Amino acid sequence: MIPAMDHSPLGDPSFGYDAFAQMVQDTIGVCIPQTKRKMIENRLGSRVRELGLRDVQEYFRHLFQDEALGAEMRHIEEAVTTNKTDFFREIDHFHFLRQVILGTASRQNPKGMFKAWSAAASTGAESYTLAMVLAEHALAYPDFQWGVLGTDISGRVLDHAKRGIYSTSVIAPVPQDLRSRYLHEGRNEWQGKWRITPALRNRVRFRKLNLMDADYNVDINLDVIFLRNVLIYFDPEVQLSVLSKISRHLAPGGHLFVGHSEGMVVRMPQFRQVAPSVYRKEA
Ligand SMILES: C[S@@+](CC[C@H](N)C(=O)[O-])C[C@H]1O[C@@H](n2cnc3c(N)ncnc32)[C@H](O)[C@@H]1O
Repeated sequence: MIPAMDHSPLGDPSFGYDAFAQMVQDTIGVCIPQTKRKMIENRLGSRVRELGLRDVQEYFRHLFQDEALGAEMRHIEEAVTTNKTDFFREIDHFHFLRQVILGTASRQNPKGMFKAWSAAASTGAESYTLAMVLAEHALAYPDFQWGVLGTDISGRVLDHAKRGIYSTSVIAPVPQDLRSRYLHEGRNEWQGKWRITPALRNRVRFRKLNLMDADYNVDINLDVIFLRNVLIYFDPEVQLSVLSKISRHLAPGGHLFVGHSEGMVVRMPQFRQVAPSVYRKEA
């Protein structure tokens, strides 16, 4: 649902990219200043051609004058988001999870469900990395119950995440022993592709969620939230608002992970830094 906003650019000399960029910032949060214009207009090119429009200016007119914005939103979400991700990205976070957080969880709460949320999941590498670390812990502590939720605004990356199929180069950072336990190698026409095992996929749920929503339909009392490499695309006001909504979903003593280039953004009193770009929510 697109919030009612005045994006009517008729007669406005800045009509076009500026109005589009403002609408994107209001609804998706992502800042796309003039310096990104060429890239964004290139990405919109295939949609412009699909619609049989002359050029991107005509696309902007179509959005605002023909009231096509609602119907086009899913294409716009794909065009303005950057989905780069990796298995075991910023690996010290996963060492911290395994060595510091899980040590405590297994001792203090062996029967409770350990819940992790990857809040900008992209194609699923982060969610499945979390799942591998948690599944390994469960091998050592059979009473340990766990689940992972992955959410993202982009339907395209979520479809990829749900399929859980990756090329050999993408799974390269997954250590050999984990590969043999949690990935199946494809044969024949699937040569060079790897699929996350059904047992692991069953523990990971993916669904669409826009971090700009007023509130999030996600459990509270989560143990860890990974909100990595997405805040950098937002302006400071949006960063603060997203962090304050996110913090409602962490249990006291739960941990928030942001990207290594985003640590300076977390300056709220309820978060105490415990490692580089890792924050513990105070009780
Ligand atoms: C660069 S990827 C980061 C993926 C992963 N967290 C990592 O660090 O490898 C950023 C992701 O944030 C998503 N994103 C951008 N704006 C969003 C929003 N408003 N709500 C939810 N997801 C958003 C994008 O679709 C993209 O998949």
